[in-house]
Amino acid sequence: MKGISLIGFMGSGKTSVGEELANALQLAFLDTDHQIEIQCGKSIPELFSSKGEKIFRDYETMVLKQMPTFDVVVSTGGGIVERRENRKWLKEHYQVIFLNTDLEVIRKRLADDRSRPLWQKGKDEVEQLFQRRFQLYRTTAHRVIDTNNRDVRMVVEEIL
Ligand code: S3P
Repeated sequence: MKGISLIGFMGSGKTSVGEELANALQLAFLDTDHQIEIQCGKSIPELFSSKGEKIFRDYETMVLKQMPTFDVVVSTGGGIVERRENRKWLKEHYQVIFLNTDLEVIRKRLADDRSRPLWQKGKDEVEQLFQRRFQLYRTTAHRVIDTNNRDVRMVVEEIL
């Protein structure tokens, strides 16, 4: 079966949903951020602070292209859609699902999360990032799932 890839903003539930979805479908689960951490031997915040966002994005594109494309659920980092190359790759190789969550809801979920470097940016900058990426998620995805008032189990059920 063609792989399923989950995209969406930070805090939209890609990892939790991906794990449960893979479990339900008895497929492997992979996460691009986790693979980056394994390959570079650093946590995402360490990689951002020591090498910067550009190098992080290079790793991201590299691990994306190393992932299997069949019988797998792949959850991606929120910025995977920043590169056109990644958008094209995802669309061609996966059934892409956009987990669509309002920024208000994400703000409540993430609050003062410190593990996501781009979440530390100012309120306006995060809002601009959210608006700009929203279009990219929509045009990359084959399906859009609203995750605002749904828990992980309900989102997984809808995808199934
Ligand atoms: C990022 C999102 C993060 C992680 C990195 C950059 C982004 O993943 O890849 O901090 O650019 O939005 P999550 O979407 O899993 O938080």
